[in-house]
This record gives sequence, C-alpha cells and structure tokens, in this order.
Amino acid sequence: MERIALIGYRGSGKSTVGPRLAVKLGWQFHDADLLIEASAGKSIAQIFSEDGEGTFRNLEEENLGALLKTEKVVLATGGGVILRDTNRVKLKQEAFVVWLDTDAATCWTRIQSDSATIARRPNLTETGGLMEIERLMSERRPLYEMTACSVVDGSASPDVVADTILQAWKKR
Ligand code: S3P
Repeated sequence: MERIALIGYRGSGKSTVGPRLAVKLGWQFHDADLLIEASAGKSIAQIFSEDGEGTFRNLEEENLGALLKTEKVVLATGGGVILRDTNRVKLKQEAFVVWLDTDAATCWTRIQSDSATIARRPNLTETGGLMEIERLMSERRPLYEMTACSVVDGSASPDVVADTILQAWKKR
C-alpha cells in the first residue's frame, strides 16, 4: 500500500506539509476537509451550524473510506478524524499514519493567521481559543498516539517536516 495519512490537531501542519510531501514522493495530495466541503457544497462551519457535528462526522467517515481506496496518495485528515474507532481502525489498516505532534501554542498561532479559519473552522466547544486547543488536545492525545505509525514534531518548517516524514516512510 502506498498511502500516507497525516493526523493531528488543527494547525499541526497537515495541509501545509501534505502537498510538499506528495511532490517529494510524486504522489497526489488530498485534503479531506476540502473534499467534504466540495461534495456538501458548503463550508465545514456551515455543516456544523446547519446540520450538526454528527452529520459532519458521518460525512468525514464516508469520505475517509473512499480516500483510503486510492493509491499513491498523501492525505491530510481533519483533526477530529481519530474520534471514531472505526476511522482509527481503517487508518491503521490502510495507511502509514503520521501524527504531527505540534504544541498547542504553535497550532493556535497558525490557526489565527489562517485567513480561511473564520469562514471555515467552527469552534469545537464554547470556549474557543488556546484553552479549547489545550483541553481537546490533551483529550485526543491518546487517540492520535494509538493510531500513529510514526510521530513527527510538526512545529518545524514544512519542508523539514516533509523530509522527516519521507525518511520515516522509507525506513518503515
Ligand atoms: C476538526 C478539525 C477540522 C475539521 C472540523 C473538525 C476537529 O479539520 O475537520 O472543523 O474536530 O478538530 P482541520 O484539522 O483540518 O482544521
């Protein structure tokens, strides 16, 4: 199987590192969130507010199943994909899974500087901000950990992170 799935919190670097890694491998790149938005015809923030998080999670699971059938692909998953055990099992079976373990402060800085954030990214709890990231990250950490084949510090520059993943893939 020639398939790498990047997992990690929002702002961990999946969508920035993914295309660079795909170029290095000569593979295609897919961003799961963008595909969900394209097929739903609305932003993730709209899916959350109009249809609810449960609907989004169902779309996410369906989309992941389809993406894990493609070959020679680097896949950026949504930060919450590891919440469902069915997704964790599929990811482990069907991809070399790399967790971009990026500290909360770096994720927060990146999320704030991304102009698409307000339009696309719903708050996941009432708190929002750095506190939300710190809390959800510590809840999700064991799930990222149990799903990953390889753990990479995602706070370095995207090219360095992509090279580190490439080395891990070659040594797998
Ligand atoms: C989510 C992360 C988002 C997106 C949705 C839910 C989460 O993806 O799937 O807003 O639960 O962490 P990114 O990690 O690509 O921002």
